[in-house]
Amino acid sequence: MDATVGRLARRLAGTGTSVFSEMSALAVKHGAVNLGQGFPDFPGPDWVKQAAEDAIASDINQYAIAHGATPLRQALAAHYGPRLGRLLDPDREIAVTSGATEAIFASVLGLIDPGDEVIVFEPFYDSYVPSITFAGGIPRYVPLRQPDAAHDQWWYEPGELEAAFGPRTKLILLNTPHNPTGKVYTRAELEHIAGLCQRWDSLVLSDEVYEYLTFDGAQHISIATLPGMWERTLTVSSSGKTFSLTGWKVGWVIAPPTLTAATRGTHQFIVFCSAAPLQIGVAAAYAEAEAQGYYEHFRRAYHDRRAVILQALVDAGLPAFVPQGTYFALADISHLPYPDCIAFCKMLTIDAGVTPLPPVTFYADEDRHLGEKLVRFAFCKRVETLEEAARRLRAWAGKK
Ligand SMILES: Cc1ncc(COP(=O)(O)O)c(C=O)c1O
Repeated sequence: MDATVGRLARRLAGTGTSVFSEMSALAVKHGAVNLGQGFPDFPGPDWVKQAAEDAIASDINQYAIAHGATPLRQALAAHYGPRLGRLLDPDREIAVTSGATEAIFASVLGLIDPGDEVIVFEPFYDSYVPSITFAGGIPRYVPLRQPDAAHDQWWYEPGELEAAFGPRTKLILLNTPHNPTGKVYTRAELEHIAGLCQRWDSLVLSDEVYEYLTFDGAQHISIATLPGMWERTLTVSSSGKTFSLTGWKVGWVIAPPTLTAATRGTHQFIVFCSAAPLQIGVAAAYAEAEAQGYYEHFRRAYHDRRAVILQALVDAGLPAFVPQGTYFALADISHLPYPDCIAFCKMLTIDAGVTPLPPVTFYADEDRHLGEKLVRFAFCKRVETLEEAARRLRAWAGKK
């Protein structure tokens, strides 16, 4: 008898290997251009890497302070203070974590008791639901709807969100700009959400990792800046997307001390602290980026990449929703004869040599059908990589 069988805790039931890994393996097998997983194929800025190298060389190689190296918390306080419209206390209002993923996991674990309800918009980043259920919380789903004649962006039904709130709603998980739809929540939507949180005395965890990736004049707004919301919001971000350093996994939570206490309380027992020299690299990134005009350059480069992928999808007969933010474009395959997006992604990998991601895992099981006719293309790639994908997609469309 295999003594390893049946040993997993119940909380892991249904989690399994992610579809990201499965599609990446298939992409490698078929030599496909992988536009599935969202990591850049170009390097992060030299000056940021140099700062981390210098930190290692000067022996900043032991444990950092658990809630973050002092230079990083100071740099983040200076950077986010004006954005959040307040003087931030780097000692009590910032907690550094191992990426946004740990920021979310640690915060939810520090806030949610068994039976507490947490509202999540679908589609959702795939770590949200395990973070809730591992803590014993109950996810309540509110689907985002596709753009239509009355909505030029993804939207939610106000009544559906209102019905999801109740006396047990402890928290709502928000993500703006939103992966995978590219939606940037409007001020009116955020005001609606804020009003509900105040009415039901709920907290918000706002995942803003794509804060610098907005297009066409869409404005990223942190819900923490709305009246009465600082007190009930944990604002989460990380350096991975903004500085094209996804492997560094340096993230943070910004919130009042009573809320950072939740993150810090669990974080100290999950990892204790994040990698010390990389925190120094990220401190340099935020200290210098503005003066170097980095954010504008970053946004423009992504604007160009977005144009290449959107044109390629149109040319290949795969109409895509134009994302207002993030580095993802969702294409609609409902007019094509494939049973679901997983079958389509496998076919496209093999027949076209381009791999997108099937976003069904961004939905709860009961709502999977909402994502079945969508595929996600990541455009966080060099223009040459995107042009090669475009060439392959056109060749595939020509053969159809
Ligand atoms: C919405 C969202 N939140 C969080 C993360 C993870 O961020 P990090 O790499 O900093 O953990 C991602 C990465 O894809 C994401 O898309």
